Amino acid sequence: MRGALLGLAVVRLWMSGDSMDPTDSGRSGDGMVGFLDAVDPGAVRDPYPEFARLRRQSPVLRRDSIYEGAPASYVVYRHDDVTRVLRDGATFSSAVIADGMREVWGRKIIVGMDAPEHQHHRALVSVAFRQRTLARWEESLVGRVVDELIDQFVDHAHVDLATEYTFGFPAKVISGVLGLPEADYQQFQQWAVGIITVFRDWDSAVRCSNELREYLEQIVNERRVAPRDDLITDLVTAELDGERLDDEEIYSFLRMLLPAGIETTYRSSGNLLYLLLTHPEQLDAVRADRSLIPQAIEEGLRYESPILLTARITTRPTELSGVAIPKDTVVTAMVASANRDPDVYDDPETFDVFRNAHQHMSFGTGPHLCLGMHLARLETRVALNALFDRLPGLRLDQEAAVKSDAHIQGDSLFRNPTSLPVIWDHSNTVS
Ligand code: HEM
Repeated sequence: MRGALLGLAVVRLWMSGDSMDPTDSGRSGDGMVGFLDAVDPGAVRDPYPEFARLRRQSPVLRRDSIYEGAPASYVVYRHDDVTRVLRDGATFSSAVIADGMREVWGRKIIVGMDAPEHQHHRALVSVAFRQRTLARWEESLVGRVVDELIDQFVDHAHVDLATEYTFGFPAKVISGVLGLPEADYQQFQQWAVGIITVFRDWDSAVRCSNELREYLEQIVNERRVAPRDDLITDLVTAELDGERLDDEEIYSFLRMLLPAGIETTYRSSGNLLYLLLTHPEQLDAVRADRSLIPQAIEEGLRYESPILLTARITTRPTELSGVAIPKDTVVTAMVASANRDPDVYDDPETFDVFRNAHQHMSFGTGPHLCLGMHLARLETRVALNALFDRLPGLRLDQEAAVKSDAHIQGDSLFRNPTSLPVIWDHSNTVS
C-alpha cells in the first residue's frame, strides 16, 4: 500500500489544489462522459509563467512530503536537468512508477522497469512498434477510423471536435491495432475509461483492469494457436535469444497501452488543433502545404505537452545543478517546462510551426523514450489531413468558443482543450 501511495503521490505531486474534482461537462460523444467527468477541467489554466519563474529562481525545487511519513521530493525544471534525470537510469530509477501502478497495470510494467530487465523487455515489445510495422495501419485502420468519425458529423452545421473526434479516434485505433473484434469495442472502451481514470476511482480501475485481463487471456490464447496481423500476435510471437514474453509481461504491457496510447494522443491532437485554430495564419499555411504537418505536430507537442511530467527515484546520493539529492528520493522531471527552456529554444513562449526543429521532451528521452511515438505521429497526421480534406475552410466557431470558454487547461499532470467548436464551408464539403 505504501508503494501505491508513493506512486500516486508522485503523479499527484503538483496537484496542489486537487484539481481532479469532477465537473459536469454535459457532453456526449461516443460514451466518453465518464472519462470527461473524471479527467477534464482542472484548476490550472496556464502553468507556464510559473515554470519560467522556477527555471530562473528554483530550477531544482524541494517539495515537502505530501503525506505523513513520505520523504521530501524534488522537481526539476530545466532542460539539462530533465535530460540528465531521464537518461541516467542507473541513478534515477523508474521503479517508483511500477510501485504506484502495479495493482492496475500488472506486475511487469515496461515504463517502471530498470536495466537490464528493461532493455530485454523493450527489445521484445518494440518489434510491434517499428515504423515499418506501423505503416500497414495507416490506410486500412487509421484512415478508416477517422473517416467513419467524420461521416457522423460532416453534414452538421458545426461540431465540437474534442468530443466527437479527438477522443474517439485513438481508442478505436488502439482497439484495431490490438486486433480486437469490432463487436467488443464498446466494452473495451468502458474498460479503457475505467483504467485511465484511475486517479479518480482506484477500485473501479482495478476491477476494469482485472476484467480486461480475463478478456485478453482469451484473445492471447487464440493468437497463439492462430496468429494474425495484429499487435497481440506480435507480442506473443516476439522472440529474442530464444526467449519470449511471459504471460504477465504481455498482460501488463497491454493494459499499460490504454493510458499510454489513448489518453496521450487524445490530448495532444486536441492541443495541436486548438493551437492551429487559434493561429489562423499558421492553420492556412499548414492546410495549403501539407508537408508542414510533421513539423506542426512536433511544435504542438513542444508548446503544449499533453503530459507535463514523469518521475524517478534515486538509487544513490546525487546532485542536480548544485543541489544535493539523497538516495531514495523521488525526482519529478517537468518535461513541459524543459520544452520551453530559453537555453534550448529560441522564443520558446511562441507557438511557431516554422521554427527550426529541435527535439522536444514530450516523448521523454533516454531508455524509456516513448515506444508509441511513431504511431502517435501517424495518427495525428492522418487525423489532420482527413479534417483538411473533408471540411474545407475549417475554422474555430468563435461564438461557440467564447460561450464554452474553449481553451487548453488541465491539472498539473495533463493538459488539453476543454472544447473545440468548429465550422466549415458546407458548399465544398466532401461527404
Ligand atoms: C502524443 C502522444 C504520446 C505522448 C506525449 C507520450 C509520452 C510518453 C512519455 C513521456 C514516455 C516516457 C515516460 C518515462 O520516461 O517515464 C512514454 C513512454 C511510453 N509510451 Fe508514450 N506517449 C504518447 C503516445 C503513445 C502511444 C500512442 C503509445 C502506444 C500505442 C505509447 C506507448 C508508450 C510506451 C509503451 C512507453 C514505455 C516505454 C518504455 O518504458 O521503454 N505512447 N510515452
